[in-house]
Amino acid sequence: MSADKIITIDGPAASGKSSVARLLANHLGWACINTGNMYRAITLGLLKAGVDVHDEAAVVTALPTIPLENVLVDGRNLILLSGQEVENELNSEDVNNSVSHVAKVPQVRTQLVAMQRDLGLAQPSVMEGRDIGTVVFPEASAKFYIDASEEVRARRRGDQGLSDSVRERDRMDSTRKTAPLMAAADAVIIDSSELSLQEVVDKIVALLPSRGVITSGKASSYAA
Ligand code: CDP
Repeated sequence: MSADKIITIDGPAASGKSSVARLLANHLGWACINTGNMYRAITLGLLKAGVDVHDEAAVVTALPTIPLENVLVDGRNLILLSGQEVENELNSEDVNNSVSHVAKVPQVRTQLVAMQRDLGLAQPSVMEGRDIGTVVFPEASAKFYIDASEEVRARRRGDQGLSDSVRERDRMDSTRKTAPLMAAADAVIIDSSELSLQEVVDKIVALLPSRGVITSGKASSYAA
């Protein structure tokens, strides 16, 4: 797989990047890989095992015992913990409050970045997260960073019925030492505050040829 078969989408919490990535991947007929869910699943596994996620040494010790698997089903990555699907537990309040503590641990990131590279290289992929354009696939030619104002992001989370302190997660994600949230120098930055989902996807699709991504013949209509 070459760099022109990876599209990276990064951005802060509730910027809309997951929905954009899903629509774009469907449009192209590519796999959609949500890396945030991997950090969430490890966090869930640690919480279930009773590990104090604020204790970095305890997280590192427990890490090899967390039985995380990633499989692609219908073009989307499905995460299994001890062989069980856990998607409906990944956005719980406990996980929201703990995930950025776990995601700042370098050993956690090393393990997940290796998994993400393997997955992304296995087929043409849209991959979304915080460090995809900077760390996971720095060689990708099509990189996007989706942003939105803090008010808009807080409102979007509220509209989803989720209580989630996005401001605190963003603060932690942006200031951590290893792979902090930031736009790659060669990423296209899109502010989605005043744009619909469709408008963001349209912008990206229009830019793909100039970024070396050839999409002819694969594209289908947009569908979530
Ligand atoms: O959906 P939302 O944008 O709120 O978050 P997410 O993409 O599910 O990511 C949850 C958390 O995982 C983030 O707040 C980061 O702490 C961490 N994360 C990361 O460090 N690196 C990634 N590539 C993806 C997520």
